[in-house]
Amino acid sequence: EQKQHFSVNLLDWYMVNRRDLPWRRHNNPYFTWVSEIMLQQTRVDTVIPYFNRFIGNFPTVQALAEAPEEDVLKNWEGLGYYSRARNLQAAARQVMELHGGEMPQDKPAVFALKGVGPYTAGAILSIAFNQPQPAVDGNVMRVLSRYFLIDEDIMKGSTRVLMEELAGELIPEGRARDFNQALMELGALVCTPKAPHCLTCPVMEQCSGRIAGRELTLPVKTKA
Ligand code: ADE
Repeated sequence: EQKQHFSVNLLDWYMVNRRDLPWRRHNNPYFTWVSEIMLQQTRVDTVIPYFNRFIGNFPTVQALAEAPEEDVLKNWEGLGYYSRARNLQAAARQVMELHGGEMPQDKPAVFALKGVGPYTAGAILSIAFNQPQPAVDGNVMRVLSRYFLIDEDIMKGSTRVLMEELAGELIPEGRARDFNQALMELGALVCTPKAPHCLTCPVMEQCSGRIAGRELTLPVKTKA
């Protein structure tokens, strides 16, 4: 069926097209976390050198927690949205105080960290720990709204909830880590906002949005 087609073909595609990114070399929860915060408003190519320098200077949660704030901000210079850096350090201090410096592995505890919302919590739990948690951001909502022809306004909270339920159902048994990153990668590289590369898309064949000629009018998004 359509869901099965999506999951199988997307995962197969990812295993061939997976990029070797610095935060993908180890399943280190701290690396996953830092990379996801950096990637929130910044593209992969820009993030790579910042990530490498940041991890070089603050290699552990403890190192980040103990650093002077100005050093942390200095390492963020050029990435913008400095509240991300401040929250990251505040959260590193939370992890030291509440969890002995180890990233917790349950959703409420991860979600309680400063700067960590539903997307980032799902990304950390799935990528670092391979837990079957959805990680739904704007890219993922675009992919799902097109493939399943979901006409709901993605600015609505109820649509996000619907997408999270769907994204959770799509995760193949034991493959959350690869599947969620495959979904992000498809949204970033193939199922792009303005000129999607449908002809190279691994799931084009059963994409309801494409079949209906709706790929450019999805997702539905009201002005913020
Ligand atoms: N964008 C957000 N998270 C990502 C990840 N883990 N890999 C690639 N792009 C991403």
